[in-house]
Amino acid sequence: MNTDSLPQEIQQLVKNNQYKHEHFQDLIRDGGYMPPNEELIIDAITALSMGKNILLKGPTGAGKTKFAETLSSLFQQPMFSVNCSVDLDAESLMGFKTLSYENDKQTIDFVPGPVTNSMKHGTFLYIDEINMAKPETLPLINGVLDYRRTITNPFTNEIITAQEQFGVIAAINEGYIGTVPLNEALKNRFIVIDVPYIQGDQLKQLISNSTKLEDETLINLFVTLSKDLITAVEQGKLSEDAASIRALLDACDLTTFIPPKRAILRAIVDKLDEDREKAFVQNLADTLFD
Ligand SMILES: Nc1ncnc2c1ncn2[C@@H]1O[C@H](COP(=O)(O)OP(=O)(O)OP(=O)(O)O)[C@@H](O)[C@H]1O
Ligand SMILES: [Mg+2]
Repeated sequence: MNTDSLPQEIQQLVKNNQYKHEHFQDLIRDGGYMPPNEELIIDAITALSMGKNILLKGPTGAGKTKFAETLSSLFQQPMFSVNCSVDLDAESLMGFKTLSYENDKQTIDFVPGPVTNSMKHGTFLYIDEINMAKPETLPLINGVLDYRRTITNPFTNEIITAQEQFGVIAAINEGYIGTVPLNEALKNRFIVIDVPYIQGDQLKQLISNSTKLEDETLINLFVTLSKDLITAVEQGKLSEDAASIRALLDACDLTTFIPPKRAILRAIVDKLDEDREKAFVQNLADTLFD
């Protein structure tokens, strides 16, 4: 297990499996990821310390990217990122060749991409929305993701072996409904960590810490609204985006200046596609707020 890059005071705790939530309080206060339970964070740290790749799986606005950033700051590792889309190709992963001039002489330089950079510098590689890439693109990095930790750069033929502290964190937006399956061989190379929406007291703490809203009554009402929205999404009454914590935090922020129902309209309701869904959320807001 390699815990060298973790802050000294928690290295031993992690090794002895004594790592507790309290040790995270400072990070949360500084705007870090707030885990729904201790296991989540301990398991992620353990897997990464053991050189395993982790796949953060959860709905939109659940804090996956925030979690990855928090892990990277905890391990005191910078993070190179890849955003997957159907356009993702070998060059956007590995880098590309470019022409430059040195005293009138033309030379070919190679501009490294996020995979090459993170392997060579021994940092984290964050692969966002990993299920959005075309099925043929990511197998290119299978060798990076398994025990070999090695890849032959197709553009330079250089064989790159990752530095020891290299680690991969991927995120997949897999909601409650309409999940997109991830290629099995790829999934096989990850430890999966479910990232659900936080609720109750933790959500309350997150709202107080990270939004401008201070009124406790209002904060409690937003926590209830979030619970009702998540239930409705689970029941298939609303599309997944409606329950996003991102949107909820926006609504909380706006509420410090405009009435809560209008804040909810702007931050949540008007993003929904169907009138039926809009009416549903507005109804919820009407029953909770004046
Ligand atoms: N558990 C949490 N702890 C800290 N912040 C959170 C948490 N859940 C949501 N947030 C906040 O909600 C916002 C969205 O989080 P983030 O961007 O990490 O979500 P995501 O899961 O990556 O979403 P997407 O799938 O849309 O990319 C951020 O402002 C983040 O700070
Ligand atoms: Mg994200």
